[in-house]
Amino acid sequence: MRLTLSVIKADIGGYVGHSSSHPDIVELGRKSMEKAKKDGLLIDFHVTWCGDDLQLIMTHTLGEDNEKIHKLAWETFEAGTELARKLKLYGAGQDLLSDAFSGNVKGMGPGVAEMTFDERPSEPVIVFMADKTSAGSWNLPLYKIFADPFNTAGLVIAENLHAGFSFEIHDVKEHKQITMNAPEEIYSMLVFMGAPSRYAVKAVYSRGTGEIAAASSTQRLSLIAGRYVGKDDPVCVVRSQGNFPAVGEVLEPFAFPQIVEGWMRGSHHGPFMPVSLAQANPTRFDGPPRVIAMGFQLANGRLIGPRDMFDDPSYDKAREQANEIADYLRRHGPFEPHRLPLEEMEYTTMSLVMKKLAGRFKEL
Ligand code: F6R
Ligand code: MG
Ligand code: MG
Repeated sequence: MRLTLSVIKADIGGYVGHSSSHPDIVELGRKSMEKAKKDGLLIDFHVTWCGDDLQLIMTHTLGEDNEKIHKLAWETFEAGTELARKLKLYGAGQDLLSDAFSGNVKGMGPGVAEMTFDERPSEPVIVFMADKTSAGSWNLPLYKIFADPFNTAGLVIAENLHAGFSFEIHDVKEHKQITMNAPEEIYSMLVFMGAPSRYAVKAVYSRGTGEIAAASSTQRLSLIAGRYVGKDDPVCVVRSQGNFPAVGEVLEPFAFPQIVEGWMRGSHHGPFMPVSLAQANPTRFDGPPRVIAMGFQLANGRLIGPRDMFDDPSYDKAREQANEIADYLRRHGPFEPHRLPLEEMEYTTMSLVMKKLAGRFKEL
């Protein structure tokens, strides 16, 4: 069956501060999805959270960018915001950048990752969700999963992966996109993918079959709003097994706690820590940045699951390493490279300080 998997998320209020989500907000999300399922709009859904972000995972047959699905998500976030205001949760409605819905949530604040495909006889999918980081944080794991034979053995030894994958890369500042092929174009590809604050992988396709393999949210909140309103806290959906990398190959890159931007005030570099849902409540210096992975088997659009994929001692070492890196980086205090370079910082007092000191700067 032809199916669309939509993951739409927003931070509509934190509990406590920006650290997590209030159970009543998650419950409100579930009720709203339940109603849409009863009304026949959705086949199935799963509502969860990562830190202060509410995550709506939905299956349906209406395709991507569908007005009804996006409206459902938007109205759920609006109702959640109302409840967040009643509870006086922190930053209520933070990611809703517009007052009125206009057909699609893109460009309005929420993050969106959607893909449409024919459900295979068995369809394992992994939904990755992050908090306290930005859209480009999937670049490194997606490269490893779909282009690096040192991560994905299947690229070398499995016939159905051997043709490689193509990467749709978005320039989030210039609003341009390019599709490049691995393995033959990896050197050029990495020129872009290695600069994740500007270039983000939007989708990955199998070159053997043309099928969609992965889709991510690439919205950069600060670029949409023109000011700081919170980090992007992106999501990414990856199909697995058969013509795609195995579940273990999809999860493997996260055993390396890469350094990403985000963390405190969206203005620091920190380690990307893979955690179970129970640990997805960033509190140390509002971090460090977290990623959770929810695994599902699809059954005619039904979401069988989730399995909490990082709830596994084999990621203990990555968490330990992430904590060590966090200690090390924190000791830099307000110095780069812990603090982001000036042009990437989401918070800055530069213009204020410059104005105050204007008369005291002398020509060299
Ligand atoms: C980062 C984040 C937090 C806040 C910080 C200050 O994405 O959400 O680190 O930036 O807690 O928040 P405000 O300015 O709302 O007091
Ligand atoms: Mg927040
Ligand atoms: Mg968040």
